[in-house]
Amino acid sequence: MTVNVDSAVQQLIEVAIAAAGNAYIPYSNYPVGAGLRALDGTIYSGCNVENASYPVTICGERTALVKAVSEGRRQFDLLVVATRNAGSPCGMCRQMLYEFAPNLRVITVDMDGNIHTDVLLTDLLLDGFGPDRLPR
Ligand code: THU
Repeated sequence: MTVNVDSAVQQLIEVAIAAAGNAYIPYSNYPVGAGLRALDGTIYSGCNVENASYPVTICGERTALVKAVSEGRRQFDLLVVATRNAGSPCGMCRQMLYEFAPNLRVITVDMDGNIHTDVLLTDLLLDGFGPDRLPR
C-alpha cells in the first residue's frame, strides 16, 4: 500500500532520519532525530546529545528548537521526530515546544520513514502551561 504524504512532510522525515545519524548516544544507544519547520519555511534539524553526567543530555527535539530560536525563529508549524520505534517527544520537550508553538503538528516516524502518529502538540500536552499564564 502506498501512502500519499505531502512533500513538506516527506522532506522533514528525511531531515529527521538524517539527523538521527548524528546522535551522540554512547549511553542509551537510542538515536533521536528531529526536523522542525519554522513558519517562514526554514527547516532545522536536531539530534540527541548525551553526556556522562546523564541529566545534562539534550533531546533531539530541543536541539532543533534551540537551534531555531537562537537563529531568530519563534514560530513553528511542523515537527517530525524519528526514532527506531517512533517514540513520542518526552514531557520536557513537549513543554519547551509549547512555549513557542502550542498548535504544532507533531509526526513520529520510524527509521524507515513510516508515520506512526500525526497529532497536535495540544493533544500531547493537555491544558499546557504557556506564556499567557504569566502576567507581563
Ligand atoms: N530522547 C530524545 O531525544 N527525545 C525524547 O523526546 C525522548 C528521549 C533521548 C534522550 C536520550 O538521549 C535517549 O533518548 C534515551 O532517553
